[in-house]
Amino acid sequence: MTTTALKQRSLLGLKDLDASEIVSILDRAAYWESQPEKLNPVLQGKFVANMFFENSTRTRFSFEMAEKRLGAEVMNFAAAASSVEKGESIYDTVKTLESMGIDAGVIRLKPVGMLEGIAANVKVPLINAGDGNNEHPTQALLDLYTMRKHFGELKGLNVAIIGDVRHSRVARSNLWALRKFGATVSFCSPSEMQAPELDAPYISMDDAIRADVVMMLRVQLERHTTGVMKSAEQYREGYGLTVDRAKRIQSHAIIMHPAPVNRNVEIDDEVVEHPQSRIFPQMSNGVPIRMAVIERALS
Ligand code: CP
Repeated sequence: MTTTALKQRSLLGLKDLDASEIVSILDRAAYWESQPEKLNPVLQGKFVANMFFENSTRTRFSFEMAEKRLGAEVMNFAAAASSVEKGESIYDTVKTLESMGIDAGVIRLKPVGMLEGIAANVKVPLINAGDGNNEHPTQALLDLYTMRKHFGELKGLNVAIIGDVRHSRVARSNLWALRKFGATVSFCSPSEMQAPELDAPYISMDDAIRADVVMMLRVQLERHTTGVMKSAEQYREGYGLTVDRAKRIQSHAIIMHPAPVNRNVEIDDEVVEHPQSRIFPQMSNGVPIRMAVIERALS
């Protein structure tokens, strides 16, 4: 495969992906969602490795579901049960699986900036399943898909992203992708969770909950240095989607959260399954989106 073809089949982020490419992934996901048969083995004989160097439930399992629904052979790699524990590097691990004959790799990493270097040195397409606080392209694609399904189009949508923007790859991928479609993105965060390097305005919580899309973020405790969050109660009071605040969202609006959810911190227990919440539908939408992305990598 040429370097250009490899680059076109890989998905490292949305920042540099054309809007037309994103639309074709969303459209293909809609096609897969509409298929009555669960199994469509168009990728029979292809081997995919899911390489997770950081924990995951939704992304890992929905990739596996997507790959199996397309008939691919799936190999799951978990760092904790591998030679990474003996000190093998991430690069050598990926090169090892490539040497064994995988056709594509899905990869989640803690460090930022490592993925491009790995992708440049392997000959199979790689799909970013989340790299540090940089990008989570398939999460943002399923988020866009969820919004498009509800509103019909993304243009003109007012999206408020609330919470730990600084440590969030979901916020970054959504910001960069939504802007390509003419949506307005605002952030709402305590000062210690803001990302001044991102060019988006910060608004008050009262304004944020009046958006068309009220997107809550998980507090990324695992990426915090000490002192970022003073207390869960204080955070909920200032930035949580409480039952009281949920009463003030607009009747046409939707509530989103990439999950896992810290219940009663970012969002009250009762609001997680609110009639306007799309949190579990987001997870369902992750499967056809990842079918489209894996098919794009391998067809
Ligand atoms: N939303 C998301 O990426 O969840 P996981 O960490 O469980 O994959």
